[in-house]
Amino acid sequence: MKKIIAVDGPAGAGKSTVSKIVAAQLGYTYIDTGAMYRAVALKVLQSGKPAEVVTQDIDIKLDGAARVFLDGVEVTKEIRTPEVSRGASDVAKFGFVRKKLTELQRAMAAQASVIMDGRDIGTQVLPNADLKIFLTATVEERARRRFEELKLKGIAADFEQVRKEISLRDKQDSEREIAPLAMAEDAVLLDSTNLTIEEVVTEILRLAQ
Ligand code: DC
Repeated sequence: MKKIIAVDGPAGAGKSTVSKIVAAQLGYTYIDTGAMYRAVALKVLQSGKPAEVVTQDIDIKLDGAARVFLDGVEVTKEIRTPEVSRGASDVAKFGFVRKKLTELQRAMAAQASVIMDGRDIGTQVLPNADLKIFLTATVEERARRRFEELKLKGIAADFEQVRKEISLRDKQDSEREIAPLAMAEDAVLLDSTNLTIEEVVTEILRLAQ
């Protein structure tokens, strides 16, 4: 029988890192819905056209190796810039963007057992998920992790700037009118501030049993 795990939470809480590991352990497909909003934002930035026009005719594909394709072209790296992060949070406010991506996400979840991460998966996209996790951490800890990640990649960054960008995205994502970041009533709250990746994975696997 197909199973569905929904993982929601703010930027930098570790959703994609732990979801990928859980997917591999359980043999589920991992679906990164943030990457889909990022692909829309990248297309807006590249084309200079408004989100409404861009989403009318867009082809977004995710493969088993978490690679992202926009209109047939791989954009896995291009969607990870700070500019695209901001743009993704901006386009995510629009009902027509959310409707299009929600339909795609539901179609993907109908194909296989999935672990899907995002902001509105447990509340809007897959309200009947078998397990819902709300993964969070303090803004300082999330900024620290993002900062370390950038450092490892050799990207120069300013900690205060990283913290500000995360706070701004938290605010935008949780205060928007349509499908804001929210914990579903039946979700399990996991605060990863003082937990390792392994500890979070172990807890999700235990809950999934
Ligand atoms: O998870 P992420 O940081 O890659 O997501 C990028 C942005 O996309 C995030 O700031 C808000 C938006 N998003 C959303 O509105 N709904 C989702 N299910 C996933 C992401």
